Amino acid sequence: MAILEILKFPDARLRKKGVAIKKVTPELQTLAADMLETMYSFRGIGLAAAQVDKQVRLIVLDTRPRENGRYKPEQMTELEAAAVQPLIIFNPVIVKKEGKTTYDEGCLSVPTYFETVERFNWIEFSGLNLQGAPFTLQTDGLLAICIQHEIDHLDGKLFIDRLSPVKSMRLKSKIKKFGYPDPSHPDSEEELDAESEREEHRL
Ligand code: NI
Repeated sequence: MAILEILKFPDARLRKKGVAIKKVTPELQTLAADMLETMYSFRGIGLAAAQVDKQVRLIVLDTRPRENGRYKPEQMTELEAAAVQPLIIFNPVIVKKEGKTTYDEGCLSVPTYFETVERFNWIEFSGLNLQGAPFTLQTDGLLAICIQHEIDHLDGKLFIDRLSPVKSMRLKSKIKKFGYPDPSHPDSEEELDAESEREEHRL
């Protein structure tokens, strides 16, 4: 197992589209394991292969509440709690979707920024599991939001593309100009608190 480097916006490689896999090979199983380890090490709840510079359609997720997280077991929906996690999904495709919801999303490829994004509230998706067997799952809550966010990554899309055009442009220019704040040197106690409250929400 290995911790992989996560690409950060505005790295152009994040814009590459992932290719559907034909077969789950041992190499792809290793990649999935490395991606999970990488995701956990950065306290993320989801990671897409595009973020580690692999152009395959693979996403890994674990939205279960963790120690010190703001997200509590009682905040999980029934469908979300029923899903066996972590989830490793090759070739994920959303086949049904319903309703709308909003959430303050963050992303390991856009560290320290959180913005409200609209997503479908309920989804049914299909894909292949780690053994290459097809499966379908219906879910909602944070897991459904996270899956939509990760599938966007496979299409070269980031959550900051889903803001209003003005907001999106401002945020991107700001990052391009100033980069990301150094997490080891928070500007104030307040920022540190805000950061720690949100540490479970990087998708
Ligand atoms: Ni992300």
